[in-house]
Amino acid sequence: MTIHIGAAPDQIAETVLMPGDPYRAKWAAETFLNDVELVNEVRGMLGFTGFWNGHRVTIQGSGMGMPSLSIYANELIRDYDVQTLIRIGSCGGMQDTVKLRDIIIAMTASSINTPSSGIFREFNFAPSANWPLLQAAVTAAGNRDVTTHVGGIYSSDVFYDERPDLNEQMVRHGILGVEMEAAELYTLAARYGRRALAILTVSDHLTTGESMPSQDRERSFGDMVDIALHAAFA
Ligand code: ADE
Repeated sequence: MTIHIGAAPDQIAETVLMPGDPYRAKWAAETFLNDVELVNEVRGMLGFTGFWNGHRVTIQGSGMGMPSLSIYANELIRDYDVQTLIRIGSCGGMQDTVKLRDIIIAMTASSINTPSSGIFREFNFAPSANWPLLQAAVTAAGNRDVTTHVGGIYSSDVFYDERPDLNEQMVRHGILGVEMEAAELYTLAARYGRRALAILTVSDHLTTGESMPSQDRERSFGDMVDIALHAAFA
């Protein structure tokens, strides 16, 4: 048991999927896993452990934003010795070629700040995905009827961003989408020698202003869970 996770040490699997929304963790566990047990409900940040194709896996909510994800990822890595962490979440599309419902597999995650920034001083660390995991996710996505993009994303600290000029620079430099968690996840995984990846569905688009209707979100979320599970156990 840690400050934010109530699970016993053996209740968390070596592989953890991390949606931002705890109710998505519940849905994914009930939909994809067998023999599911609720392993965390501290602060309502639900976590479940069960089996997928015989592999033990935990699905633990991370909350929104890097400070929240950092708490859960730190405790999962340092206290529960988790080896593989895959974020499954949504993002805002930034390129014209990126459409609503597409999937982005994040090779790198740029940011202005992460909770880890302080330790780097003037150094700009480049948070990047675990390559074998990324490759396995690309293969898994290729077997599904969904358009997939692989490249750099931006992990922002603000959802309601008042700096459109910064977004213009992101677009100009090929950033595919914006979300709020991956850069810290990749940084922690690098620090502790773990495998990390972020798989994202485009739920809205910064230049077109479109957003995905809520009835489409479940199916897109299911695609991400499926890709993440295939990648984790490839
Ligand atoms: N997650 C989903 N859409 C987003 C956006 N537009 N900005 C930041 N995070 C997001």
